[in-house]
Amino acid sequence: MKILVATEKPFAPVAIKQIKEVTDSDSHVLTLLENYKSVAELLIAVADADAMIVRSDLVTTDVLNAAKKLKIVVRAGAGYDNIDLAACTAHNVVAMNTPGQNSNAVAELAFEMMLYQARSGFSGKTGSELRGKSLGLHGYGNVSRYMAEIAKGFGMEIYAFDPFVKEKEITSSGIKASKNAEELYSGCKYVSLHIPANDKTRKSIGYDLLKLMPHDAVLINTARKEIIDEEGLLKIFSERNDIKYLSDVEPEFKLVFEEKYKDRFIFTAKKMGAQTEEANINAGVAAARQIVEFFKTGNEKFRVNK
Ligand code: 3PG
Repeated sequence: MKILVATEKPFAPVAIKQIKEVTDSDSHVLTLLENYKSVAELLIAVADADAMIVRSDLVTTDVLNAAKKLKIVVRAGAGYDNIDLAACTAHNVVAMNTPGQNSNAVAELAFEMMLYQARSGFSGKTGSELRGKSLGLHGYGNVSRYMAEIAKGFGMEIYAFDPFVKEKEITSSGIKASKNAEELYSGCKYVSLHIPANDKTRKSIGYDLLKLMPHDAVLINTARKEIIDEEGLLKIFSERNDIKYLSDVEPEFKLVFEEKYKDRFIFTAKKMGAQTEEANINAGVAAARQIVEFFKTGNEKFRVNK
């Protein structure tokens, strides 16, 4: 089978080497379309692919129409909001993700951003410490669990809210379970977002929640920019000069923040939470293994479309 790696943001070379070892081991042919600049390039590359590995690359109806032989697409990562699942199903294409494989990398970045901000961007200005401060985890999945581990080491008080996780699962890890998002935001100086982007969560974090946060609050977003109601975020920024926003991807209103709210935000230029060699290897190799297994045995364990 021909397996295409289509990544606008490429994996580390060491990850590609290991992906190839996996695909070679079952005599599949690996082809690469890395760092591509236009959808047109992707449409040509998918034409004869039986399987495809992607990252945040958009898998749309156009892509699927062009991919006449495609049987499976694996998102090497957690969030699959970039894949049109209904279109995959309509095209008889199995869609999968590789949950948990890049979570530690994302958790470390969220923490690095918190530390950098707490120490005033290493500017020499007096900063603050994390010990004894409250951290709220909005969503309690794989990334949050790594965050909690790190936060414990820093002596933080940890809270979490996730309507899909049993309270006992949260409290048994020594974390306080908040009853709802309002309670989480009211009680935590730091709130870190770990929820997917979907119809229920898009623009769900905005003025009403942020206004509840205590003085000197910091919102950290290493999830998706789509979950933020940016108008609401700007409204609270204009009303309160103590709130800060750290985001692993530039918001739509980046220029407004740059113009008006200097020193109150950190934005990475490109989503880089999962951009470590380790995460690239973990997620890339897991994706390759899932494809090899799918062709060998029909295993659909990580399927996300119906
Ligand atoms: C994910 O959903 O796994 C992360 O957001 C990583 O995305 P990336 O592979 O585009 O870096």
